[in-house]
Amino acid sequence: MLAVENLEVILGRDKIVHSCTFDLLAGELGCLLGPSGCGKTTLLRSLAGFCQIAHGNISINDQIVSSTAQHVPVQKRNIGYVMQDFALFPHLTVAQNIAFGLHQYEHNALRLRVNEMLELVQLTQFGDAYPNDLSGGQQQRVAIARALAPAPSLLLLDEPFSALDPALRETLVTEIKAILKASKVTSLMVTHDQSEAFAFADKVAVMNQGAIEQWDSAFALYHCPKTRFVAHFIGEGRFISGTDDGKNIRTELGIFAKHNETYEVSKTTSIEVELLLRPDDLVFASDGAFSSIIQSKKFRGSHIMYELAVNGMEERLLCLTPSHNDFAVGSEFCFDIDIAHTVYFPK
Ligand SMILES: Nc1ncnc2c1ncn2[C@@H]1O[C@H](COP(=O)(O)OP(=O)(O)OP(=O)(O)O)[C@@H](O)[C@H]1O
Ligand SMILES: [Mg+2]
Repeated sequence: MLAVENLEVILGRDKIVHSCTFDLLAGELGCLLGPSGCGKTTLLRSLAGFCQIAHGNISINDQIVSSTAQHVPVQKRNIGYVMQDFALFPHLTVAQNIAFGLHQYEHNALRLRVNEMLELVQLTQFGDAYPNDLSGGQQQRVAIARALAPAPSLLLLDEPFSALDPALRETLVTEIKAILKASKVTSLMVTHDQSEAFAFADKVAVMNQGAIEQWDSAFALYHCPKTRFVAHFIGEGRFISGTDDGKNIRTELGIFAKHNETYEVSKTTSIEVELLLRPDDLVFASDGAFSSIIQSKKFRGSHIMYELAVNGMEERLLCLTPSHNDFAVGSEFCFDIDIAHTVYFPK
């Protein structure tokens, strides 16, 4: 449905998007996730046709819309675009805003389509209201209804929730996801918030300095990160030093079986590596095999995140434990290690 191959975008003199390849099947929801300035908006704008591409190609429904030889103009791509600041017309009612892009509809069909959209985003009683009379969340639902009304082949959303407060965001992400799944529209959202990406998307691209480091499900990004950047960027965790002897990773905290091969290992020499320990790899146990001193703690309601110092180890570790295991900073904390799947990178 959406296929992006070796995409490169140059703005001014700088290459902003580097050799990006990914695809979305019809009806799938994707996400571009990455730190500020990594090129998410630029990539999204190139899909919409707002900028020329320098290399590669973009196809929508098996038709090339961008290549070095071809550039289908924005208005011919049948793409919906939702921006961060909603960009609703303040002097038009909600219904008029939604009707804005529906030039080809005649009167009755237009009314039906607008009502259908109002129903979809659950704002039926607000058709005659003006955007300023609505809450931020309601305004964003109008923006999405307006983008969906012309039945786009692809919906692009650039940080659609970032102007909203966190509590509202969480509910809205779930609502919008349900709306998009119900309308079966293929969508790609940009965000730098990973919980938002995880709640929204079937597939997530983690971007770093213009390149996609991994295009995968949220589960795979967390449990099987392919690069150190992804391992560090997604979720929490700390790296400890170890040695890859070809079969196992040997560390000060024990020997762990290897699961994946992310680099070439020579048969004769061992390799210095960094092993990722997630906060849930450490399990509190009063008679645990390892002892540590609590350096700091963060109360998170159902859980507490402890930062731990193990005698003789430079790296501090993280442990997430149910919050009834409540101990003071400075006290001893014993734990076992339970790693289901080792993640490690050469130093
Ligand atoms: N028109 C332009 N000309 C030259 N450089 C640009 C232009 N627009 C953006 N850039 C640069 O491209 C890089 C990526 O910008 P982009 O807006 O795509 O990042 P982003 O990932 O969307 O960031 P944010 O999360 O802050 O929105 C930045 O370094 C930016 O300065
Ligand atoms: Mg941006």
